Amino acid sequence: MLVNEIRSKFLEYMKEKGHAVVPSASLVPENDPTTLFTGSGMQPMLPYLLGQPHPLGKRITDSQKSFRSQDIEEVGDNRHTTFFEMLGNWSFGDYFKEEQIRWMFEFLTENLKLETKNLYVTCFAGNEALGVPRDTFSAELWQKLFAQKNIVAKISENPENGIQDGEKIFYYSEKKNWWSRSGVPANMPEGEPGGPDSEMFYDFDPFRSNEIHRKSIYALLPCHVNCDCGRFLEIGNNVFMQYKKTSNGFEELPQMNVDHGSGLERYAAALRNDPDIFNIDVFVDPKKTIERLSARAYGITTTDTYAYRVILDHIRSAVFLIGDDVMPGNKDQMYFVRRLIRRAVRFARNLGVNVNFTKEIADSFISVYKDEYKNLQEKREIILSELDKEESKFRKTLENGIKEFEKLAGHDISGVNAFHLLQSYGFPIELTEELAKEKGITVDMVSFDEEKNKHSESSRTASAGKFKGGLGGDGEMEVKYHTATHMLHQALRTVLGDSVVQKGSNITSERLRFDFAYAEKMTDEQKKKVEDLINEKIKENLPVIREEISIEEAKARGAMGLFTDKYGDKVSIYRIGVGKNKGDNNLFSIEMCGGPHVENIGTLGTFKIVKEEAVSSGVRRIKATLS
Ligand code: ALA
Repeated sequence: MLVNEIRSKFLEYMKEKGHAVVPSASLVPENDPTTLFTGSGMQPMLPYLLGQPHPLGKRITDSQKSFRSQDIEEVGDNRHTTFFEMLGNWSFGDYFKEEQIRWMFEFLTENLKLETKNLYVTCFAGNEALGVPRDTFSAELWQKLFAQKNIVAKISENPENGIQDGEKIFYYSEKKNWWSRSGVPANMPEGEPGGPDSEMFYDFDPFRSNEIHRKSIYALLPCHVNCDCGRFLEIGNNVFMQYKKTSNGFEELPQMNVDHGSGLERYAAALRNDPDIFNIDVFVDPKKTIERLSARAYGITTTDTYAYRVILDHIRSAVFLIGDDVMPGNKDQMYFVRRLIRRAVRFARNLGVNVNFTKEIADSFISVYKDEYKNLQEKREIILSELDKEESKFRKTLENGIKEFEKLAGHDISGVNAFHLLQSYGFPIELTEELAKEKGITVDMVSFDEEKNKHSESSRTASAGKFKGGLGGDGEMEVKYHTATHMLHQALRTVLGDSVVQKGSNITSERLRFDFAYAEKMTDEQKKKVEDLINEKIKENLPVIREEISIEEAKARGAMGLFTDKYGDKVSIYRIGVGKNKGDNNLFSIEMCGGPHVENIGTLGTFKIVKEEAVSSGVRRIKATLS
């Protein structure tokens, strides 16, 4: 079934159930300064979930364009995309669990005709401390529905131990089966709505050979529906938005809401019984174009397939973003469009595509989506010309840089020369490294980093307006460096002792700088320990969790920070790791801070100290990079 057919089927189905069909909101949120992009169907519905009446009534449905910039570097596997459509329906204080679950079961099995035996669901296990009971209602209802299809669906209490015969319904804690815009309950600010949810999964291993799991890096762990091996794909989520966060827990909202969101592309993949999202129909024509230009096929080698996926995802996102009036540029949302196009061009180069191609791919996407998204057809010329302009500009950079590189490539590339390629030709360092590798020569990264830092210092005054103290911009790299600063602060305390106190911090998109009170020069061994500790933690991919708590509590829980607020005031703290208090095993850092931060530190890359020096007596300065 084609993506366009699935979308219509869903909207038609919900219309029959009394929902008003509304068009997708823009990818750029209108009245929400807290976030750059619309990342889920629920985002534009927030006011109505909190009780404001929707002009079209209590039952609404749509297919919402969504863009998740934090996933840019995740793209390349078989399931991550930065852009996707979320099929959604909402009850604003109207129907609740009974109708929602019955409808979803009917829609999946009767309308989409997905094999019932390949469907699995999860429900909220309950948490006494939160005052939210186990969702037995949903679990038992799913069970009844499976029984109507002659499937005995057993309920499991311990899904993480693996799936036993006949189990289809699994209870998970709030880590998996709770949804709010800010994530788990601990993360939610006061006043935010949220609730337990019930998720639906599709099994791509219909013969139960467990091959997908056995061949994955998770092979040694038991497989369950939330395992990341790729056997199961979450296709949709029903959130029962029933609660509002208060200063001491949760209270019931004045109305019980349903917030359902399903991945349109994921439905399409499930219907094909193929876990590779990039094989669904919307990518077929663009893929052919790449195939023709590159003379290399999709799905043959891992690196080529990776490049294909980056190109397909990034150009589709750029098309939709430009369609919503975000042009490539240097600031905010625009920066992401630029980045998407540049990455696509770089990866196309890996496939041997050295002529402008983004326009052609974009045109295929516009054809696929033009009926549903009329703005794409209306803005076709602008979309194509913006892409082409940006591509040409970047290609020039690439070409000139490559010529210069060839001149320098008679021997190993020094840091000064690598920096010259970056500064004079806008030549990204990864590309210099990549080309050097092809030639069998090396790049002196240590002196490159030093060179880059020297430059950041000298241009600092010029950009002082933009990057004041602390966190300068809100670009993706700045956010990463901000989180890395918290990690460095903690790592220094772990290695050098708790007398280390932050004295200052400055972030650009290129590096972090951190000043701290400490009397002596750090030894090489100490620097290495700090780096190793941070990189080890990054590998553990700990979550970063925000909480608003009183100063007293922040102090009692060992949060770092200068507590200058008044007694009784609330402060915002960020934790890296799930533990609550300083000293807990599963907590790396806890620090008072206004954010923003990355959601998971796994995205930070590799942390490296490039300099450690004195700034004044008793104060040291570290400069560090992520790569
Ligand atoms: N808002 C819910 C989600 O994004 C449906 O998963």
